[in-house]
Amino acid sequence: MKTYKIAAIPGDGIGKEVVAAGLRVLEACSSRDGNFKLDVADFPWGSDYYKAHGVLMPEGGIDELKAFDAIYFGAVGAPDVPDHLTLWGLRLAICQPFDQYANVRPTRILPGIESPLRGVTARDLDWVIVRENSEGEYAGQGGRSHRGLPEEVATEVSIFTRAGVSRIMRFAFQLAQSRPRKLLTVVTKSNAQRHGMVLWDEIAREVANDFPDVIWDKMLVDAMTVRMTLNPGSLDTIVATNLHADILSDLAAALAGSIGIAPTANLNPEGRFPSMFEPIHGSAFDITGKGIANPVGTFWSAVMMLEHLGEASAAARLMRAIERVTADPALHTPDLRGNATTEMVTQAVCAAILGAN
Ligand code: NAI
Ligand code: MG
Repeated sequence: MKTYKIAAIPGDGIGKEVVAAGLRVLEACSSRDGNFKLDVADFPWGSDYYKAHGVLMPEGGIDELKAFDAIYFGAVGAPDVPDHLTLWGLRLAICQPFDQYANVRPTRILPGIESPLRGVTARDLDWVIVRENSEGEYAGQGGRSHRGLPEEVATEVSIFTRAGVSRIMRFAFQLAQSRPRKLLTVVTKSNAQRHGMVLWDEIAREVANDFPDVIWDKMLVDAMTVRMTLNPGSLDTIVATNLHADILSDLAAALAGSIGIAPTANLNPEGRFPSMFEPIHGSAFDITGKGIANPVGTFWSAVMMLEHLGEASAAARLMRAIERVTADPALHTPDLRGNATTEMVTQAVCAAILGAN
């Protein structure tokens, strides 16, 4: 019997609700499978911790996390704490030291869910967005001077390194190669941003030489929003910078039905550090405490975590259970225009896992 050590960090707002639901679903996966156990440690880090201790996670928190096989994360952000403090104090404070440079975001239209795009079905929209997750626009370079004075200045410097761009391009080409269509779109903005984005394009072309069987094209990010909306079937695997992919993946989630269903994996592909799995949404103050958060994105993130741990059959069983539940409109939460609660969806997914082959 294998045991995996999982660090659960529910964080704030609906993060607490969906991670609690996700842990129940994972427990059902392990008891149905019978070949692995999950040893879960809960870390109460986030905005409440910040209000009590002045930091979002304790000093040495990163060292504590090193001992885990994976991290299961909710969301961070509270109405009364500045967003840049919460994001940098917890989520990026884990992603960056653990070098989780590849952020993988699959999007599909699940059974029973309708795209807001007329006539677009699961056949037309099956994408994986690869987000560069360690540098670019979110590298953290910049500063502010002369605060409050008329000459106040702030800089936010994008960093593109040959090492950073090469490794994410290689990761994206490999992922595209592993998918049936072997199709990759490299998103850029090298018409307006003529240094970092031109390096990005050049390295894409270099790496492409090592993947002759992958068909790839280049798309300016503004035009990409149009293509995603009007011609979704022309896309498959997509690679974009930290900022571009952040924005495009919310659009992708909405086009597939709801931001509440979209998962993500923050991977350290070499396995030197733990990887982190989370829904792409935030802490959703507007619905916190109402018991109506859609937990599907968090469940799908658990699928990605099980795959990463090497439990492919448990991962596939969980995905089938999720799809069986989304197929029933009576089990849709309000973001999908239904009346179901988080609890109803969670119970139904657990029942589907325990009853499945
Ligand atoms: P958000 O994703 O929290 O919410 C956007 C909209 O989507 C809201 O109307 C919300 O109710 C809805 N929504 C999100 N997840 C849902 C779910 N599972 N089920 C049903 N509806 C859902 O984004 P917003 O409002 O921009 O940010 C709120 C806070 O979350 C901010 O503090 C922000 O910084 C933080 N945030 C944190 C992230 C993270 O920890 N990874 C990611 C995005 C935002
Ligand atoms: Mg985002």
